[in-house]
Amino acid sequence: MNLLILLSASTVLLLSVLVFPLLDNQWFLKWKWFSSSSVVADFVVTNGFIFTSDPSLPFADSMAVRDGRVLRVGKFSSLQNLCRDETEVMNLDGKVVVPGFIDSHVHLLFGGLQMAQVELHGLNSKDEFIRKVKDAVNDKKHGSWILGGGWNNDIWGGDLPMASWIDDITPNNPVWLSRMDGHMGLANSLSMKMAGITNDTQDPPGGTIMRTIDGEATGLLIDSAMELIRPSIPNASVDERREALLQASNLALQRGVTTVVDFGRYLPGSSVETPWEDLSDVYLWANSMGKMRIRDLIRKTGRVISQWIYLGGVKAFADGSLGSNSALMYEPYIDEPNNYGLQVTDPETLFNLSMAADYAGLQIAVHAIGDRANDLILDMYESVISANAMRERRHRIEHAQHLALGTPERFGKLGVIASVQPEHLLYDANSAIKKLGADRAHKESYLFHSLLASSRQLALGSDWPVVNINPLGGIKTAMKRIPPGWDHAWIPSERITLGAALEGFTISAARACFLDEYLGSLSPGKLADFVILSTDSWDDFVAEGSASVEATYVGGIRAYP
Ligand SMILES: *[C@@H]1O[C@H](CO)[C@@H](O)[C@H](O)[C@H]1NC(C)=O
Ligand SMILES: *[C@@H]1O[C@H](CO)[C@@H](O)[C@H](O)[C@H]1NC(C)=O
Ligand SMILES: *[C@@H]1O[C@H](CO)[C@@H](O)[C@H](O)[C@H]1NC(C)=O
Repeated sequence: MNLLILLSASTVLLLSVLVFPLLDNQWFLKWKWFSSSSVVADFVVTNGFIFTSDPSLPFADSMAVRDGRVLRVGKFSSLQNLCRDETEVMNLDGKVVVPGFIDSHVHLLFGGLQMAQVELHGLNSKDEFIRKVKDAVNDKKHGSWILGGGWNNDIWGGDLPMASWIDDITPNNPVWLSRMDGHMGLANSLSMKMAGITNDTQDPPGGTIMRTIDGEATGLLIDSAMELIRPSIPNASVDERREALLQASNLALQRGVTTVVDFGRYLPGSSVETPWEDLSDVYLWANSMGKMRIRDLIRKTGRVISQWIYLGGVKAFADGSLGSNSALMYEPYIDEPNNYGLQVTDPETLFNLSMAADYAGLQIAVHAIGDRANDLILDMYESVISANAMRERRHRIEHAQHLALGTPERFGKLGVIASVQPEHLLYDANSAIKKLGADRAHKESYLFHSLLASSRQLALGSDWPVVNINPLGGIKTAMKRIPPGWDHAWIPSERITLGAALEGFTISAARACFLDEYLGSLSPGKLADFVILSTDSWDDFVAEGSASVEATYVGGIRAYP
């Protein structure tokens, strides 16, 4: 059974034991200075077009920073009394500045590890797929694993890859290549043999072993069936995981991302230890060595380890994905008329765990893609909320991709936050129409505007490495919704404004992870995480949504370039 709950009731206990001795409440009390009148700015940025994400002062031309925090924002004349000889003044030449982006959903170490593996994103033919694997085998010793991911069969017309495509070039190397959505992967015959998968192996609950019409396993494993291969895949070493963190952080900074909400290495089929091993071996190591460069929220409930690391709540899966025909829907898939998708976690187990987590005061985030999965999770939240005491919960649904009529309104009513990934719509538009039919696809896919209208909040992200970590791309897609090869928007009424999209990657994202007290807007007292963009025209940015990152500052220090 595929139970992808990140923390079980017993690990919730572990969380308190592990975290409280590490709590460093001091760092965020150090900013008492900013109310004092004699303070001096460390530096001032001026002559810019600063979008603050703070409704009390949305735009400004200058900002003063001290001790890594925003000291004051406004006109240069209003900051001059904070400047002394030692204050550095930086002229922005009219450039647009925005708060550091918060990516609300990434798999940071998984993405970092994939950077060192076979990269299959964007391949557009079977031949190219085979060539990539062949190149990878060339530099490998017999017996060592070929790992990689990112392929998307929709790009090459839909045919699913099979072990037979690569068996003759990989007779001595076990292979595991996950699809871009992480909900299916291809094993070659050698890795199936090592994992003990035969033609007679039964489908596990919540998973499918893809078979030919003659009943032979093709090598494709869907959702919980990927668990069959997992024990054979070698675990990444501590050094590999540390290197993955550093590489991933550098990439994030290049893209203007200063904080990530990390959903761990829990894409099924990746090699996984417990979350606590990554926390202690990788994150706490980086923290103690001064190597943390972006802020990382590892499933958060307001528990601060340092200014770099925050601990999170619980994550569970309701269903699979659209691309793998495993998102749980009310109506069957058009290309598989008996398939309504998969409910990957036993509902009673999920309900019991959610009750326990909510009762313990934790924030809950559940992955739900299909219309039926989303309603089931909203029903579950509704019961949990009415059973336990009133409080600010900010429970989330990750993806909220296909929503039935009336469902967006329920998010607002229940105060549930939709954590959505705009760039997924680029890759899903054509396949949604094929799998759901034009009518359903156009009514219920990626309803950002409806969700915003009902709940006034959206947390935006990438789900990296599903798509690249790149908020500026996500912002443009949320504004334009034009899939590759299209000349018009997919569901134009669901486009959102630049301002709303920027908030989705800044203040709303901070709120969605309980960090809005420290981050998410350029407001006095908050951490000075900001991004200087290449553009000096706000109007062009509003019209085109395009810009690039020129520099990224974290806690007032330039971290990129
Ligand atoms: C399934 O049966 C075919 C035909 O006998 C065989 O070639 C193949 O290796 C089998 N697959 C697995 C996974 O055992
Ligand atoms: C990976 O680590 C887990 C637990 O830490 C262990 O159970 C598993 O056997 C390891 N896998 C391999 C292939 O060594
Ligand atoms: C869920 O909780 C109920 C009540 O405590 C218990 O009777 C039931 O066995 C639990 N179910 C599962 C699947 O854990």
